[in-house]
Amino acid sequence: MDTRLIAANPAGVDTECLVVFALDHSVKSQGGDNKNKEKPEPRLTVKDAALEKAVADLVSSGEITGKAFETAMLHRPQGLNAKRLLVVGAGKAKSFSHAEARKAAGSAVRALKPKAIKSCAFVVPELASGAEDAVRAMVEGALVADFDPDTYRSDRKDQSVREITVVAPAGTDQSKLQNAMAQGRVIGESQNFTRELVNEPSNRLTPTMLGDRAKKMCDAVGLKCELMGPDKIKEMKMGAFWSVAQGSDEEPRLIVMRYEPQGAPEKPVLGLVGKGITFDTGGISIKPADGMEKMKYDMAGGAAMIGAMRAIALLKPKVKVIGIVCATENMPSGKAQKPGDVQIAMSGKSIEIINTDAEGRLVLADGLYYARTLGCTHLIDAATLTGACVVALGYANAGVFANDEDAYQHFTQALQRSGEKFWRLPLDQEYLDQIRSSIADIMNTGGRWGGASTAAVFLKEFVDDTPWLHLDIAGTAWMEENKSWIAKGPSGIGVRSLIEFVRSFEGK
Ligand code: BES
Ligand code: MN
Ligand code: ZN
Repeated sequence: MDTRLIAANPAGVDTECLVVFALDHSVKSQGGDNKNKEKPEPRLTVKDAALEKAVADLVSSGEITGKAFETAMLHRPQGLNAKRLLVVGAGKAKSFSHAEARKAAGSAVRALKPKAIKSCAFVVPELASGAEDAVRAMVEGALVADFDPDTYRSDRKDQSVREITVVAPAGTDQSKLQNAMAQGRVIGESQNFTRELVNEPSNRLTPTMLGDRAKKMCDAVGLKCELMGPDKIKEMKMGAFWSVAQGSDEEPRLIVMRYEPQGAPEKPVLGLVGKGITFDTGGISIKPADGMEKMKYDMAGGAAMIGAMRAIALLKPKVKVIGIVCATENMPSGKAQKPGDVQIAMSGKSIEIINTDAEGRLVLADGLYYARTLGCTHLIDAATLTGACVVALGYANAGVFANDEDAYQHFTQALQRSGEKFWRLPLDQEYLDQIRSSIADIMNTGGRWGGASTAAVFLKEFVDDTPWLHLDIAGTAWMEENKSWIAKGPSGIGVRSLIEFVRSFEGK
């Protein structure tokens, strides 16, 4: 998708389709009989007489209310140069932010795609946090919306929107908005890169192939990339990682991507560690057949790190970042580990394997510890780690755990910018009691209750006092339903927040 910016009067823009957002300005009346029947008061997000005139009938007929992500299309809108006008609802005026602008832009693209409309022009909304914020978010939203997961369908039609134009008010200084647009592009494309990886089935994306894809990306954007196989993993005594990998005929890969920009301070060094299970059968503690096909997305955390590293290489923040992905299959076989086995992690901690399906924490234990040996001062991991996190938070929020308030502040700041939804879950010492073993230091599962937190405290054993965040994206990495702004399938959750998290350390 090409993106371009112009500063012009919307009425004069010659385009296949001009896109403008509408907000509902009505406020719920306090008390009274008709408190739930307030009439919507739709208004466009820009004050423009020509646009207002063009949508007047849509508004008076009630076809446009401002309700979030409703769409209405006009052909040959009166008084405008555009061939069509698409009005997209963006919700209540009071709560309008870049997050809604992102989704509204996405809804527009997804409305245009099936109509084979190849280009459109977005009118930049007036946003409290500024036009740059709006432009960045809209470009991100448009790119993310353009992605469909139908890679291997023979009847796949290329209905991609080829070009979007962002229309800033006539006379605005374009250089800052150009920059915001370029950033939005990098971020949106990186999120889609992650989604492509997550979408691949395990026969088409083995750990070796995931490593190769990461390497290819690194070469393209100028990152150092190192790929390590079984020998190196064993040589480094990554006994937890290897215990998962040993059961598979596919070789594991330890993927290390380094971003060390000139002029960056010695510290911090951020370590981004991702779970890259290209297929999780559960191992000897095998999963039921029903729904097992979905476990191809068990590398979504690792893919998020690869996508984030791509964006970081292109956005060039002055902060050192190391991306690490522990990639392997989790398979049952004659070589597979068994419940009751004891493994020694790279850190030296001994682990009693209770359930071979709790493999994500095993590979991350060594990944996180390894990041510390590389000099990382701050750690963040992402993993489709537990079904328990899905039980706790459903599909609406991903889980976040933190052992450090300052690092957590950086993350909440990042969420402000990314628009992604995470909910903090507890990491108290009490959960550790659930994973104490009589034969080893810890067990890899902690029983039925609090499963997301027992997994998190397991990881905490390997980060020690290093400031660390753990993102459990099991419920959010794969979307079961189409949304008006994003296709069902791989969501790319985490990518945007990771990018913003890294950027929040610039100059700190
Ligand atoms: N990859 C799964 C977690 C998962 C579940 C991801 C649902 C996406 C959707 C993980 O490896 C796993 O199997 N976890 C087990 C842990 C249990 C054995 C302690 C789980 O959550 O059931
Ligand atoms: Mn598992
Ligand atoms: Zn798993």
